[in-house]
Amino acid sequence: MANTMRYLATLALVLLCARPAALTQGLRTVNPDVERRIDSLLALMTLEEKIGQLNQTLVDWDDKSKRHAVTEAWRTDLRKGLVGSVLNCVGTRESREVQRIAVEESRLGIPLIFGLDVIHGFRTVFPIPLAAAAAWDTAAVRRASRIAAVEATASGVHWTFAPMVDIARDPRWGRIAEGFGEDPFLCSAMSAAAVRGFQGDRLRDPSSLVACAKHFVAYGAAEAGRDYNTVDISERTLREVYLPSFKSAVDAGAGTLMSAFNDLNGVPASANPYTLTAILRGEWGFRGFVVSDWTAVTELLAHGIAADTGEAGTQALRAGVDMEMVGGIYSAKLPALVRNGKFPVAVVDESVRRVLRVKEALGLLDDPYRNCDSVRERGEILLPESRAFARTLAAETMVLLRNEGKLLPLDKNLRTLGVIGPLADSRHAPLGPWAGMGRPEDVVTVLAGIRAAVSPGTRVLHAPGCDSTFADSAGFAAAVSVAAQSDCVLLVLGERNDMSGEAASRSDIGLPGVQRALIGRVLTAGKPVVLVLMNGRPLTLAWESEHVPAILEAWFPGVEAGHAIADVLFGDVNPSGKLPVTFPRSMGQIPIHYDARNTGRPFDAASHYTSKYLDAPNTPLYPFGFGLSYTEFAFSNLSLNRSAIRRGDSIAVSVDVRNSGDRAGTEIVQLYLRDVAASVTRPVKQLKGFQRITLKPGETRRIRFLLHPSAMEFPDARWQPVIEPGAFRVFVGTSSADLLESGFNVE
Ligand code: GLC
Repeated sequence: MANTMRYLATLALVLLCARPAALTQGLRTVNPDVERRIDSLLALMTLEEKIGQLNQTLVDWDDKSKRHAVTEAWRTDLRKGLVGSVLNCVGTRESREVQRIAVEESRLGIPLIFGLDVIHGFRTVFPIPLAAAAAWDTAAVRRASRIAAVEATASGVHWTFAPMVDIARDPRWGRIAEGFGEDPFLCSAMSAAAVRGFQGDRLRDPSSLVACAKHFVAYGAAEAGRDYNTVDISERTLREVYLPSFKSAVDAGAGTLMSAFNDLNGVPASANPYTLTAILRGEWGFRGFVVSDWTAVTELLAHGIAADTGEAGTQALRAGVDMEMVGGIYSAKLPALVRNGKFPVAVVDESVRRVLRVKEALGLLDDPYRNCDSVRERGEILLPESRAFARTLAAETMVLLRNEGKLLPLDKNLRTLGVIGPLADSRHAPLGPWAGMGRPEDVVTVLAGIRAAVSPGTRVLHAPGCDSTFADSAGFAAAVSVAAQSDCVLLVLGERNDMSGEAASRSDIGLPGVQRALIGRVLTAGKPVVLVLMNGRPLTLAWESEHVPAILEAWFPGVEAGHAIADVLFGDVNPSGKLPVTFPRSMGQIPIHYDARNTGRPFDAASHYTSKYLDAPNTPLYPFGFGLSYTEFAFSNLSLNRSAIRRGDSIAVSVDVRNSGDRAGTEIVQLYLRDVAASVTRPVKQLKGFQRITLKPGETRRIRFLLHPSAMEFPDARWQPVIEPGAFRVFVGTSSADLLESGFNVE
């Protein structure tokens, strides 16, 4: 009772400093009332309590009960106010109990903020982010994030460590699965959509989940595509390729960012004042807080820039890492360093303000139990309409790479359909490498989806062909036998969901193990074969693309995998996905991305001394933005409303798109721009716009883009946006490699 009275007294004191009506949500503008409220709370805090706000710990684990529990030691820390945030505590009962200790058994009763990796769904697991990017549908990404937020906040969670907005251009890197691909424009659009979906319209709303754009910054540029490896890139590449998607998240109002593991040009991203303070706060005005990645502060010793943990802690906090995820260095080392005058308390205070600002914006200071409503927990998770949307989105993400002889779509009345492959019946693969609270039992497998889709008279045969280690060919004969009995064969192959994601880089990105051999053996049966891929990265598919007539890239589609894949295979959904990342012909081409610079000797077949390989073309197997449909789209009449503009003017670009096929379909019209001659070399093209359009058979629509001046800007030598006079080329079409071209001048 005494604790509750004390808490209420503290809260009353704090609230006295602010007019409730003025207590607003949001982090992008300074609210004097909020700042006063925070300062008055700060003034009450001891140094240990301040540093406690910067300490994020795991839910404790009780060895006796073998479950997450509030151990005595942890309860003591909570009572002393030494913990500001908890990660991986899920469930209204659990979070209420932990929150109650922090709020009612501590001196100041400052609520904890609960974080969890809600990457592509909470319990309703959606396609992995790389797949979602392939839909080129920001509204759909926003809606999926919104559903995830509703489910997570109904389960006691306040904060997600998402969206992951790292640009990835090396498919060996396993975490390419968690991001939105290779392009800054597309990734920025998805980044903003995800933040808005997670955070909703008002952070104080019960279903709003604070977003965390990660991993700041350039984590995806790891040398050799090996996770956690060194990143060494130019400032221009940092500015033009790796920062924009984070800026987009901040501009969309993201409450937090997560600092990355990697060494960035010699200064680890989690101790980098240039990125964490000069850019993030100085240039962008970010007012939320930065949490480190898991033990990234401790890892400064391994990086070799800190001689001891005290140095690591002071470097990270001074650089701008406000909260330490696990590791416990801030709590253990900073109080003494501050007391001994070796670290300024002002830096601590500023980080505490940032953390309290987010907690205040969430409404936690007014209602610490805002996400502990068991009624919501029972009624808002894995709803039928959420699953229905997961099915729709999954189908939208699928990319038709090949369809020779229009083998697809299949007839649901086939007499016998063979389904072969170890992933066909997998409940784990469809969930991808980071499925949060997703459960295998929720998954509709490919086999189940196929069986549900075909007519009652269709016989569906199945053989795994090999097991999910992809190592053993003992099952080949049974697979060939199934193929021999079938009118058509679906080969469901790819990667296990633990072959991409964190710490899952691959030095060879071909189909793992014996799968290509399995394809070869199944082909000997002489039946039509469709290859359905479930994977978390681009794969090298040159051989498959020569031997298999139809290939559908399904990625890891989430809980509705089987229904969504069947919807596309049988034509209930006409595929519209477009690659958000380049598929190379071979490993030797990596890194390969569409927006390369021209070089002084661009490839010229007529000249030996130009940029090329002796043993392969420069072009990828499947380019960025590529994806087929069951219908055809024709582009014509590209025109600009002006041939010359002044700097600062917009320009309108129009094109006719016609559905020249026999079924309705969705096309993703892409617009690229090239600055032909500038003060620095510019990419041969850069995505500057896209529109999803659905056309009936025979329908023609004139599509219009309004190119704002920002589309022509690039950072000058002082990293300020500049538009330089000169010629620009405009490209519009169905992929980065299939475009109509025009041009205009900036005067
Ligand atoms: C991991 C990941 C990060 C995640 C965090 C918490 O190591 O790098 O993306 O959010 O730890 O699970």
